Amino acid sequence: MQDKQGWSGRFGEPVAELVQRYTASVEFDRRLALFDIRGSLAHAQMLAACGIISAQDLSDIRRGMAQIENEIIIGDFVWLTELEDVHLNIEKRLIALIGDAGKRLHTGRSRNDQVATDVRLYLRHAIDELLDLIKSLQTALVDLAAHHTHTIMPGFTHLQVAQPVSVAHHLMAYFEMLKRDAERLADVRRRVNRLPLGAAALAGTSFPIKREMVAELLDFDGVCENSLDAVSDRDFAIEFGAAAALIMMHLSRLSEELILWMNPRIGFIDIADRFCTGSSIMPQKKNPDVPELVRGKTGRVNGNLVALLTLMKGQPLAYNKDNQEDKEPLFDTVDTLSATLRVCAAMMGGITVKPDAMRNAALQGYATATDLADYLVKKGLPFRDAHEAVALAVRYAEQRGCDLSDLGLDELKQFSDRIADDIYGVLTLEGSLASRNHTGGTAPQQVEAAIARARKYLLG
Ligand code: ARG
Repeated sequence: MQDKQGWSGRFGEPVAELVQRYTASVEFDRRLALFDIRGSLAHAQMLAACGIISAQDLSDIRRGMAQIENEIIIGDFVWLTELEDVHLNIEKRLIALIGDAGKRLHTGRSRNDQVATDVRLYLRHAIDELLDLIKSLQTALVDLAAHHTHTIMPGFTHLQVAQPVSVAHHLMAYFEMLKRDAERLADVRRRVNRLPLGAAALAGTSFPIKREMVAELLDFDGVCENSLDAVSDRDFAIEFGAAAALIMMHLSRLSEELILWMNPRIGFIDIADRFCTGSSIMPQKKNPDVPELVRGKTGRVNGNLVALLTLMKGQPLAYNKDNQEDKEPLFDTVDTLSATLRVCAAMMGGITVKPDAMRNAALQGYATATDLADYLVKKGLPFRDAHEAVALAVRYAEQRGCDLSDLGLDELKQFSDRIADDIYGVLTLEGSLASRNHTGGTAPQQVEAAIARARKYLLG
């Protein structure tokens, strides 16, 4: 019987077609093709350097791989399900093109260390692209924030008006989240960037290979130091999935706010038409579909993380075919996250802030009550007593249907005789903002400094 796949010599009958379809991965792992070729070329170079294959073999392999790479890029490569996966498809084509040298490429290697290498090369590349995309979104946030260090909105706790903040301050909170997200990805990258190749099937190889050389050729920081671990663990993909889920969670929170802010009952912002869609039945509708989808897609990224964790948890050492299931969740997470970051960055440029609506909302919720309490403390009243006095003042104003700043001095003095006419500076929204003048506070001066720091970070 002809050895089609490269392993069927041992078998007495061909694999059932049903099984072939069930076990094949080429439909999705062909995405690894160019990384697979890169890994193979480095492996071949090392084999030649160690005298395991000849210089002629190496040059044949390079020639064959160059052609295959070209075929793949222009879409001429014929992928066959019966050849199971990306590795066997490429190897078979190489053998067809160059003969025996192609058959020698797999010396001292197994698909187990090969696939682990491919996935790491792929993920490293993906992380680098994602880091750039995070920066683009951060830039868009900072650009919008820079226009709004003096635009006042209510800050919320429990989704109730709490204290006034600037729109810039609010947006810069997301800049900080994304900064941590980028740190996490960069940290994951360090552990992704280790070479499994050389572990072979599980125990290493009897050929005199130089793993460090392959690591260097492929820009890995080093090699995986235990062969069993190298071929079997996918923890690097899982921690990437966790970092990705955190990013999506942040973007989902941002989206939820944009959805709320665009609701006509709130009306804090408008999102440009190009980021919204209409309803097929209600002509008046303009729906914030993009942020809603960001919120929704967070679910699938979370799902992918759980899929990967579950995939790994029952596996004994070393490689098991279960690991073939790592790819689709991983690819889907990368695709979803990069599309989401891209669309969020673009959407930030389509947001129109409505300062009057924000200001009115801030004026309605006694947002400067804490400022009044702080004022009394500064005049010598213990904080708890000040809190109590202001609570009574708020109740009084509420009954009159007005703001604290609308009460006359005599009215205010009922709650504490320490109140004098300098109180009106404190009760304004601008006064409240300006007083929170320390690192991390919402005072325009501080937020401008935060924006300047952010711009410097983004250049780096
Ligand atoms: N397609 C496989 C995967 O994605 C490649 C490794 C297969 N190794 C094996 N011995 N069956 O994991």
